[in-house]
Amino acid sequence: MTLWHGRFGEAPAEELLDYTASLPFDRRLAGDDLTGSRAHVRGLVRAGLLSGDEGSILLAALERVGTEIGEGSFSFRRSDEDIHTAIERRVTELAGDVGARLHTGRSRNDQVATDLRLYSRRELAAVAHLVLDLGEVLLGRAEAADDAYLPGYTHLQRAQPVLLAHHLLAHGWALVRDVERLVDTRRRADVSPLGAGALAGSSLPLDPDATAAELGFGSRFANSLDAVSDRDFVAEALFDLALIGIHLSRMGEEMVLWSSEEWGFATLADAYSTGSSMLPQKKNPDIAELARGKAGRLIGDLTGLLATLKGLPLAYNRDLQEDKEPLFDALDQVGGGLRAMTGLYATVELDLERMRSAADTPAAAAVDLAEWLVERGTPFRDAHALVGGLVRDSLERHVPLAELVEAHPALGTAALELLAPGLAVTRRRTPGGAGPEPVATQLVAFRSELAAKRRLLAG
Ligand code: ARG
Repeated sequence: MTLWHGRFGEAPAEELLDYTASLPFDRRLAGDDLTGSRAHVRGLVRAGLLSGDEGSILLAALERVGTEIGEGSFSFRRSDEDIHTAIERRVTELAGDVGARLHTGRSRNDQVATDLRLYSRRELAAVAHLVLDLGEVLLGRAEAADDAYLPGYTHLQRAQPVLLAHHLLAHGWALVRDVERLVDTRRRADVSPLGAGALAGSSLPLDPDATAAELGFGSRFANSLDAVSDRDFVAEALFDLALIGIHLSRMGEEMVLWSSEEWGFATLADAYSTGSSMLPQKKNPDIAELARGKAGRLIGDLTGLLATLKGLPLAYNRDLQEDKEPLFDALDQVGGGLRAMTGLYATVELDLERMRSAADTPAAAAVDLAEWLVERGTPFRDAHALVGGLVRDSLERHVPLAELVEAHPALGTAALELLAPGLAVTRRRTPGGAGPEPVATQLVAFRSELAAKRRLLAG
């Protein structure tokens, strides 16, 4: 039987049930649906709409349903359109006549919105912890990197040497912003829609403030129409998750390059790489590639929901049922991606010697030569042209740059020292820069930022 059979003379068509059911995917809201229902039952008791005994019977039935679902003995029916229907049907079987009072003053519209907000609030915090786990691995690798350096790139061309710690923390700060966004989204999800009813509130003496407090929400809805039709928090969550996916994708792309024979900066642990079914020698960076590939589908989850929402008139429309699958998918994919990338980064072997020799090219200190001239009064544009000319000369005539620097009247032996391997990176001294002094400060700041974010999530 459907929840709405009274108005209908015919049973629903099979095709209707097949097409409209959300049970296959909204089962994962079961725990939150039970939580919402418990708060609703207590609200009905407080309002005098249920006696204390009736309330106890319903709470016991809800508890039993929770156990059945938890242990896998709950039997879903073909006619259970969604998780809300399934649970109410079973409560009614268990509680007898009192079961028919469970839905008093409530609609599935405020119910599903409540469930999804409870679910999102918790799951977004869980993702934030996983993001911090990855951040901590990056921090550990950065601290262990000590004074190792590698080429920094622009346009994927070697540009200037940077400390490896600096490079790793560049990804780390993006993760810190991800956590900030998740916390912010969670704050907007933290509003209780329970009591909005189908769309307009209720004639019954319900107290949405009390149920909001009982569910641990920061506040209740201000407008019942908005309460049942607002999915901004899902769209925001999907954006946050897509951007985490994009960050993982960029890290993945880098690992694909670093682990190639051409680059040779990284060797993935066997446990975090895959082989080829045909080529016995292959070791492939599949996690990194999927981190890159799955970013596409995360962007799809976001844009799909935005398209669903864009034309909806107030208030609830069944289209809103399409909010769940993209959210669940994005949470699953980002959760899996974060775990896998955390393992990959914790175990990857970095070839510091290879990084160093790639960074120690003669031209790595070109800008240091120009800045040396600037410090002695040469306008930067002239200094740039002078050094650029030497680099061109060196390449065209196959003469070492060092020789040309030494022989040049404006440079000479004093400037030649700048070309010493490993020196350039130590000269990046400005705050936030790539050299040892600012990076030491940055490591401290990053460590305390991660700790602060953990505390924020706990509080
Ligand atoms: N399965 C529905 C959803 O996910 C629950 C709400 C149904 N409400 C309704 N008026 N048909 O949105």
